[in-house]
Amino acid sequence: MALAPAHWRLWARFPAPSRALGLALLEALEEPAPFALLERAEGPDGDRIAALFLDPPDLDAIRTRMTIGLAEMPGAAEGMELALEEVAAEDWVRRAQEGLPPVRVGRVVLHGSHDRRSWPANLRPFEVEAGEAFGTGHHETTRLCLAALQAPGASPRRILDLGCGSGVLALAAARLFPARALATDNDPLATAVARENARKAGLGPHIRVLTAEGLAHPLIRAGAPYDLILANILARPLLRLAPGLAACLARAGRLVLSGLLTTQEREIRARYRAHGLIVTRADREGEWSALTLSRPRRPHPSAPDLAP
Ligand SMILES: C[S@@+](CC[C@H](N)C(=O)[O-])C[C@H]1O[C@@H](n2cnc3c(N)ncnc32)[C@H](O)[C@@H]1O
Repeated sequence: MALAPAHWRLWARFPAPSRALGLALLEALEEPAPFALLERAEGPDGDRIAALFLDPPDLDAIRTRMTIGLAEMPGAAEGMELALEEVAAEDWVRRAQEGLPPVRVGRVVLHGSHDRRSWPANLRPFEVEAGEAFGTGHHETTRLCLAALQAPGASPRRILDLGCGSGVLALAAARLFPARALATDNDPLATAVARENARKAGLGPHIRVLTAEGLAHPLIRAGAPYDLILANILARPLLRLAPGLAACLARAGRLVLSGLLTTQEREIRARYRAHGLIVTRADREGEWSALTLSRPRRPHPSAPDLAP
């Protein structure tokens, strides 16, 4: 997919007594299912909910389904408001050409080719051009992952960056640690960009780049177990990939999950707990979240999460 893809936003407003039912009906939509629901209070006349879709939803079909679902509550269907808008894809090429400012997270500095300069010796600067890929470091989820991967702990030697986009996280990890990284994406445009960024950074020998859907490539399994796995993709694929990611993580390894909204954390925590992983750190910015997970020292079904 184009890496800052276009998506569709369905705005919904329900009369107050039917709001919870309206939300549940939106959550239950299928084909396409929303990848996120954002509850946003707007003024005294009611709350608007935004349901985000990667594929264009059929507004008339949704209206019919919602009307049927709300029929049991008098006045609910009549008071419902629905509106659909397309959110344009982010033009990363144009933004890069406009000269994005450098991004610093901890010791890592990301900058474009328009901003080469000398940086203090304690920093780890590198150039990243996103091209058509996602990952200039200007998105909250990328920054949250960059912070999480610099958390104190053992230095990882084997790293998997799943959903690498421009390769920004694998590049940062390879700059920070004496490690080998495998960077994968299901978008061949992204892997071409990541490969080029690794070459330009002189990190080609340390980063292998593969085009693969999820974990479905023999070299991903062959490289396991990983001491550090970074997966900044959406909540739905993260839920689907839980058993595979848990199986690929080294005993004392760290798994950083992002691309999820704070409202989606609970479901992610529960799914990964079922595969033996607990949350040891949570980084949040605005509505976005990055969770770091590990195996509890003494595995116990009721081991508590260590980060709220
Ligand atoms: C939000 S971008 C993250 C890019 C970069 N890692 C960063 O942190 O800035 C998500 C990337 O995951 C890729 N992706 C999404 N679903 C995937 C899947 N099932 N398998 C592999 N890659 C996937 C997308 O193509 C996209 O490049």
